[in-house]
This record gives sequence, structure tokens and C-alpha cells, in this order.
Amino acid sequence: MSYQLTEELEMLRQVVRRMAEEKVASRAAAIDEEDAYPWDLKELFAGQGLLGVGVPEEYGGTGQGLPAVCLIVEEIARVSASASLIVAAQELGLMPILLAGTEEQKEKYLPTLASGERICAFALTEPNAGSDAGSIRTWARREGDMYLLSGQKCFITNGGIADVYTVFASTDPGRGLKGLSAFIVEKDYPGFSIGKKEKKMGVRGSPTTELIFEDCPVPAANLLGKEGDGFKIAMMTLDRTRPVIGAQAVGIAQGALDYAVNYTRERVQFGRPVASFQGLQFMMADMATRVEAARQLVYRAAFFIENAAALGASTGEISRLSSMSKLFASDVAMQVTVDAVQLLGGYGYMREYPLERMMRDAKITQIYEGTNQIQRLVIARTLLENEK
Ligand code: CAA
Repeated sequence: MSYQLTEELEMLRQVVRRMAEEKVASRAAAIDEEDAYPWDLKELFAGQGLLGVGVPEEYGGTGQGLPAVCLIVEEIARVSASASLIVAAQELGLMPILLAGTEEQKEKYLPTLASGERICAFALTEPNAGSDAGSIRTWARREGDMYLLSGQKCFITNGGIADVYTVFASTDPGRGLKGLSAFIVEKDYPGFSIGKKEKKMGVRGSPTTELIFEDCPVPAANLLGKEGDGFKIAMMTLDRTRPVIGAQAVGIAQGALDYAVNYTRERVQFGRPVASFQGLQFMMADMATRVEAARQLVYRAAFFIENAAALGASTGEISRLSSMSKLFASDVAMQVTVDAVQLLGGYGYMREYPLERMMRDAKITQIYEGTNQIQRLVIARTLLENEK
């Protein structure tokens, strides 16, 4: 299946690009330096309806789907990866509700998440359950019409600022990953608190914290799907959000490339602009080719996943393209930002210029929503399964 951006999506790209250049770019260095969540930008994005494009219209979104989420995240990440996470993390947090919520749960939560009135977060990772997401220890034991949650999560994007958390916990510790269940937890439930806030290499300004649950009562009505569905809900969520991280990586890489190309035109050494040296031209040509290839894979994945039902796509086909898009685009972002720093020479290493920030930001795209080693494992498994 090929894909083409519709006129509506092209317009969305232009509108978001202008907004990012006019309102976000000038804030990017300060967000990184101060490591403070940019509430004003959250309000700006919410006001433009950018937090609800992945949510169907009947639940308060615009229903433009995954390609639109990717476009928005890419364009914002071109100037600030941290700001683009406001959109990406909202999509990740609400996806389990969209995929597995009852009508009542969707009506209760999705409209305020789509409008940005409330922020959400996805709480899967634990100190001993990172790549091995199935070995979660957080325990949810049923008592009457409540579950009592106990345990600890770590590395949670939007921790401490989110109003709604989709939390994965075991309802049957003897059954391993088949005993995991997913819950909607609100920030003010008793027994729920925020732990340590991490100091990070990049995407600073996007808070990452521990979550602590001490016999936290969660209404049974907040269980997503059935007991034991949790692992599948988590995997199906990540299948649909990894291309968004791919789009973020493309945006970071494009931003770094654009900056470096402009710089080489202005920088004069040996009596001429350094852009005139073929050694640098070849570097830039390779960088641009990689960015474009990554972009094509990300949007191919986004359109395929968006139309998966109509295409009769299997879970394996969805997972494969999703993982490929994040794997390839994030590796490109890392290579391109390292090369962009190199093109600026000593200035690239200085904090006065944006490239060292872009390089630090690129690194996380190879790690979060599944390390690139996990993406390779997922891709390889789908190949071997198909050979059966
Ligand atoms: N869709 C639906 N079901 C799936 C699935 C998918 N994509 N992938 C697996 N499953 C099902 C399997 O079919 C299997 O069920 P059955 O036994 O009924 O067939 C079950 O789940 C177990 O699957 P596996 O045997 O493949 O499980 P595994 O433990 O061997 O491997 C893994 C799974 C792919 C390694 C997985 O643990 C994984 O993706 N790990 C990475 C976790 C991750 O991405 N964490 C990121 C945290 S979020 C984050 O970073 C966000 C942030 O802050 C920004």
C-alpha cells in the first residue's frame, strides 16, 4: 500500500510548522536549560486542538488519526523535542482507553484528554521491568468493588503533572504476563504519590518521575478490558505509538540538518564558505537522504496502522512496521545530529548553539517506547513467525 498526504494533512503540516517556528522555537533553549514543563505551550497546543487529533470526533477529538499525530509531533520536534512530547505522551497515555475502554470509560475520560483540559500518562515501566515488561510487580488485589494497587513505577513521562494515568499491574502474580491488567488511575486517589523526579540528559522540561502506590483504591469500574488483558493492551498501544516516536526522531533530525546546512553557507574558512567543500557536501547529502528515508517509513507505518482494519492487517504486520519505523528513524536521528554537531565544529559543541541539545534529545528516541534492541527482536520474530 502506498500513501499520500491529503490536502487536509498538508495544511495541518503548514499550520503547525508556522506555529512551531513563531511560538515554540524561541522557547526551546530555555525549556532545556530550566528543565521546567512549558505550561504555556501545553495551553497553546490544546487551544489549537492538537492534543485530540488521534481521538474520534464522538469523544471530542478531530478524528484525524495517527498520520496527523505524527505530522504534529514531527513539526514541533523540528524546533523542540521536549515540546513535541506534550503531544506524543498524551497520545500514549490515552491510547489504552481508546483501544480497550468501555463506552462509559471513553465518555468519561477521552473528551477532557482530547481537549487538553486534563493531561495523561502511560505507566508500564518498573525498576525491574523495562524491556521485560511482562515481569511487572505492581500488584492489584480485588476487594469488593475496588482494586488495591501496591508497587512502584519508574521513568514515567508526565509523572506529577498528569491528571489521569493508565497503570499496568498484576491481578494474578502466579500467571506472569498473562496475569497483568490495566487500570485508569486519577491523580488524587488516596495512596497514590509521586516519587523522585529524574534529572535527564535530554528532553528536559518533560517531567519523568517515579509513581508510588500504597494500597491505592481504584474502582473496579476503572479496569480496562478484562483481568489478564493488560499485557496485550500495552503491546497494542505501543504498536500504535512507536511511529509517533519515529516522527519525533525525524523532526529532530530535520531540525539539526536545516541548522547545519545554513551554518555551512555562512561559515567562512580558507577564504570560502565551508559549504563549498565536497567533504561536507557529501556528509549533508547522506544526512538528507537518511532523513527522507526515515520520514517515508514513518508515514508508511502510520497510514498502514491507521487503515489496518480495512487492509485486514495481522498483528505481526502492524508490529513489524511500527517497530521498523521507530528503529530506523531514531537511529537516523542519532547519526544525523552527531554529524550536524560535527559540521559546526567547535561551535556545535557549545550550548549557545542548538545542536548539542538536539543530539542529547535524539538519544532518548533510541531508548523509550522500547529500546532499539527490542524493536529488532520484535521485527525478527514477525519474520520467523511468517516462515512457519
Ligand atoms: N499485540 C497484541 N498482543 C501481543 C503483541 C502485540 N503487539 N505482542 C505480544 N503479544 C501477546 C502475545 O501474542 C502473547 O500472547 P499469547 O501467549 O496469548 O499468544 C503475549 O502477548 C506475550 O508475548 P511475548 O511472548 O512476545 O512476550 P515477551 O515477554 O517474550 O516479549 C516484548 C515481549 C516484545 C519484549 C515486550 O515485553 C516489549 O515490547 N518490551 C518493551 C517494553 C517497552 O516498550 N517499554 C516502553 C515503556 S513506555 C515508554 O517508554 C513511554 C515513555 O515514557 C515515553
